[in-house]
Amino acid sequence: MATGEDECVGNVKVQLAKLFEASLKVTVPNEPDVEPLVAACTGKFGDYQCNNAMGLWSKIKGKGTQFRGPPAVGEAIKNNLPTSEMIESCSVAGPGFVNVVLSKNWMAKSIQKMLIEGIDTWAPMPPVKRAVVDFSSPNIAKEMHVGHLRSTIIGDTLARMLEFSKVEVLRRNHVGDWGTQFGMLIEFLFEKFPNFEDANETAIGDLQAFYKASKQRFDADPAFKEKAQQAVVRLQGGEDKYRRAWAQICEISRNEFHKVYQRLGVHLEEKGESFYNPYIPEVIEALTKQGLVEESQGARVIFIEGVNIPLIVVKSDGGFNYASTDLAALWYRLNEEKADWIIYVTDVGQQQHFDMVFKAAKRAGWLPHGDGSYPKTSHVGFGLVLGEDGKRFRTRNTEVVRLVDLLDEAKSRSKAALIERGKGEEWTEEEIESTAEAVGYGAVKYADLKNNRLTNYTFNFDQMLNDKGNTAVYLLYAHARICSIIRRSGKDIEELKNKGTVVLGHKDERDLGLHLLQFAEVVEEACTNLLPNVLCDYLYNLSEIFSKFYSNPECKVIGSDMETGRLLLCEATAVVMRKCFNLLGITPIYKI
Ligand code: ARG
Repeated sequence: MATGEDECVGNVKVQLAKLFEASLKVTVPNEPDVEPLVAACTGKFGDYQCNNAMGLWSKIKGKGTQFRGPPAVGEAIKNNLPTSEMIESCSVAGPGFVNVVLSKNWMAKSIQKMLIEGIDTWAPMPPVKRAVVDFSSPNIAKEMHVGHLRSTIIGDTLARMLEFSKVEVLRRNHVGDWGTQFGMLIEFLFEKFPNFEDANETAIGDLQAFYKASKQRFDADPAFKEKAQQAVVRLQGGEDKYRRAWAQICEISRNEFHKVYQRLGVHLEEKGESFYNPYIPEVIEALTKQGLVEESQGARVIFIEGVNIPLIVVKSDGGFNYASTDLAALWYRLNEEKADWIIYVTDVGQQQHFDMVFKAAKRAGWLPHGDGSYPKTSHVGFGLVLGEDGKRFRTRNTEVVRLVDLLDEAKSRSKAALIERGKGEEWTEEEIESTAEAVGYGAVKYADLKNNRLTNYTFNFDQMLNDKGNTAVYLLYAHARICSIIRRSGKDIEELKNKGTVVLGHKDERDLGLHLLQFAEVVEEACTNLLPNVLCDYLYNLSEIFSKFYSNPECKVIGSDMETGRLLLCEATAVVMRKCFNLLGITPIYKI
């Protein structure tokens, strides 16, 4: 697998690391493979620092080294650094930190290059060809709750970051479309609709209510229960009528889910649990042959080191379960789909399940043992969505919140805010609608993504739709304002990109330029560690740093003799902001 780093031209940290790597080879020739430790720094001595000296010193002291302590090692690392147009100056501080001040000219040139060649040149290059992102994954005939909304939003962002990194992404909706509950649903369908083929959304209405009613029937009437249990057997045996009824129930659910995906602009490809069903027996058989599957209390299980309960792969009644399906799905993704990174997005409650499945796969030799090796699997867990009362988010009547209603409310609230701003008179109905959608849905997504995903967060419309603070509304408006600066200048920005030059003369310009350049390494970090909030923090800071630049009278844009360079900085900021929005699944707006 290629490391791809050679082509990673946009990533400042990677480029500096290469220079330091060269220096380390000369500084300590007897210590091969020392990984350069380069980090961005906020100190007044530099933009980046190399932190190898201290660690190296403890490795080499006493080995007859010429150096007298870590600062001397730092000094040598500095002196052996190959000359590069990237670096303006270098200094050693404290116990041996090597600080680098980037060259302003180089920074300006890099930004200009991005403007001309496009933001894709700043994309990460992970050593992955194909990834599976398993996300959203609601259950047929049950409600799609806020947990699934989180999974949908987070999973879509991760998929987008990988796609931006030129990874082929299989966006998998692992819907719960199999299991014993279908017997009861099918029997209930037959009972309610003798011509069951006619049953559709309009006839059934709310599938959740249908589920509840059938469950009541199942619990109350032993004869019905008996029939339901037979229905499962007939469905699993592939009997046509039962298959068709099942397919119909799935279809009705699917249409419901689709309404949410459509509003969110999220694309998924369904391969539900049922898809992997035919693969389960062979997979369990193979694991059994390897001696991994053992008998325990009538069930067949895999014991996992360090976990006190085993992973049940065949229930005591001989049936398969969630874990058997996940093992078969993992096998399929590795062997049939040849994915080298498989990512699962669910609430943290399922962490142990995935931990056990992954460990079983390692025991079986499907996955390598080392952490940094591929193919690899990752569980992306997330916390709860809370209501104002600090409890699990529900509506007044303690029912789960219907996601479609929630998204509709976000849209109608942001529409009301636009009307209040007088846009009703200024804009066409269509402009109002599309802006209200961008802002409303963007607000819901951003409120979710900006938190570290592992923490719980409180759902609050007023907060997420506030036009001040760290919200999508504030950021979208900030972007629209930058676009309006460029429009008001009356200049053709495409022409300026090629004819004008970016200049980072003023400190506020340089600060903005540095932050722009750091986009590449931030996306890479967000993508590698599967943390969308890292990108949100970056975006919010970008907007703040831009404000500082733009509101400084010394950095006047329109009408100043530095207009061209500053307009190009405005454009670069807008380009980077748009890419961030795009990666977060948020539609940018261009005027306000
Ligand atoms: N349907 C499951 C749920 O609602 C999520 C499935 C996640 N994906 C998986 N491969 N297990 O909790």
